[in-house]
Amino acid sequence: VSSPSSILTTVSPDASSSSSSSSSSSSAASYQTVDSSELDMYNNDWMNKYHGKSQLVLKPKTTDEVSRIMKHCYERNLAVVPQGGNTGLVGGGVPVFDEVVVNLGGLNRIRSFDEISGTLVCDAGCILEALDNHIAEKGYMMPLDLGAKGSCHIGGNVATNAGGLRFLRYGSLHGNVLGLEVVLPDGTVLEGLSTLRKDNTGFDLKQLFIGSEGTIGLITGVSIVTPRRPSAMNVAVFALDSYEDVQKTFSQVKKHCGEILSAFEFFDQQSFEVVQGHATAGVRDPFEARHPFYVLIETSGSNKDHDDEKLQVLLEDLLESGLISDGVLAQDETQLQSLWALRESIPEAAGKMGKVFKYDLSMPVDKMYDLVLDMRKRIDEQGALGADKAVEAVCGYGHIGDGNLHINIVAKDYDAATEAIIEPYIYEWTSKVKGSISAEHGLGLMKAQKIGYSKDATSIEYMKRIKDLFDPKKILNPYKYIQV
Ligand code: FAD
Ligand code: MLT
Ligand code: ZN
Repeated sequence: VSSPSSILTTVSPDASSSSSSSSSSSSAASYQTVDSSELDMYNNDWMNKYHGKSQLVLKPKTTDEVSRIMKHCYERNLAVVPQGGNTGLVGGGVPVFDEVVVNLGGLNRIRSFDEISGTLVCDAGCILEALDNHIAEKGYMMPLDLGAKGSCHIGGNVATNAGGLRFLRYGSLHGNVLGLEVVLPDGTVLEGLSTLRKDNTGFDLKQLFIGSEGTIGLITGVSIVTPRRPSAMNVAVFALDSYEDVQKTFSQVKKHCGEILSAFEFFDQQSFEVVQGHATAGVRDPFEARHPFYVLIETSGSNKDHDDEKLQVLLEDLLESGLISDGVLAQDETQLQSLWALRESIPEAAGKMGKVFKYDLSMPVDKMYDLVLDMRKRIDEQGALGADKAVEAVCGYGHIGDGNLHINIVAKDYDAATEAIIEPYIYEWTSKVKGSISAEHGLGLMKAQKIGYSKDATSIEYMKRIKDLFDPKKILNPYKYIQV
């Protein structure tokens, strides 16, 4: 890893050595760079937890430019951090020291859309929401949706194998991505933008890049299959008394509405209160009283009467069985959005309240909430939980339909003492129940040394060999991902 001055003098030998925001027409000089006054937004992450000191941010506009940048950096052993919308939650998209940041935001062209198959081919720097809006006009939608949709890139989504709010219905990007164009660390372009649904010719190399968090290549193009946009949608939020009831409700919802169910999310009272206290305007409490648990269910289909009827039967069943104590059903699009906001605003509201230690775990659903309760007890026992203490709130929420729990521990500071109360306890706990310490956010810098809690030594050894194969000089996203 080079010092800032050596990067600045070596990365663009045929360009001016200063970081100007202009782009000129001559070969290497055409890479757009970022003015030094704007470096902060590329050096700091969304949570303001991870801070780099890069002096050089490059914003290529084409795959060829990315390839030439990588060739240049490879020859000179310059470390590079691929960056998308910088909404990642594990410190993977910002430099650790002075690595060159290659931000893919300039690659934002939609290359093609096939209205019969629903196959979209686009540049990696396209923003998720922009893609969703584009294909909405043609009756389709993106198979994934996240609270960060207005900023995250499809390339960043693929690089992190993002899950999100539609995973339950449409599944993983490992299934939806049909092809990738990737620039390898030495500048070679791997041309894999296939649009085929079925292709059993050899190893499926694209799968290696899905979830590789920028450690073995820069994704520059994505081919992805998109589902039809449902014409009928319903959203309901139910209030429940116990986590036991949350699980039973999930079972009943699947029984009555399994084939039209598109989301089943849960959040606890603490999460709800954080949203009520800190979310941006417009997120109001639709209930008369507070409840220990809430679930949000969404159904999507093509026949409103059919879906309404099914939901009605479900509601009657849930009320009769006493599983839910209250509930609201959206009557129009505005209400639908405001019910979703109760769930989607949790990360933003927690971030406004304090510094958030975020954990993203998967484990058997029946174990999930025991961990939240244990964490609260543990922090309290150490005298650290309370309004005027180091930790103000322990929130449990997540994609229960996918067995994915988020624990947000809202603290006054990102201090080592607080972290030491939480870790490694939380990872050990998860490992004991054979869970994963990263269900969807990835490893990044935060968990670069923690993979052993979820993977065995042989798997880790083969992962390291894969990294060596693609990036023998280890210039791509150093210090992240697998550093055990
Ligand atoms: P970045 O943050 O820029 O980068 C993330 C990682 O990918 C880094 O390691 C980076 O090096 C690498 N990378 C980025 N682009 C490329 C590329 N083109 N080629 C190679 N490597 C690349 N995540 C979920 O899974 N589910 C959620 O529900 C969810 N909700 C979120 C809600 C909020 C409010 C926020 C802030 C984040 C949320 N996230 C969620 C996390 C985050 O949005 C996702 O991880 C997202 O996929 C990251 O995309 P990005 O473009 O911002 O990538
Ligand atoms: C979510 O489900 O809201 C996201 O994964 C983001 C988060 O937990 O912070
Ligand atoms: Zn999530």
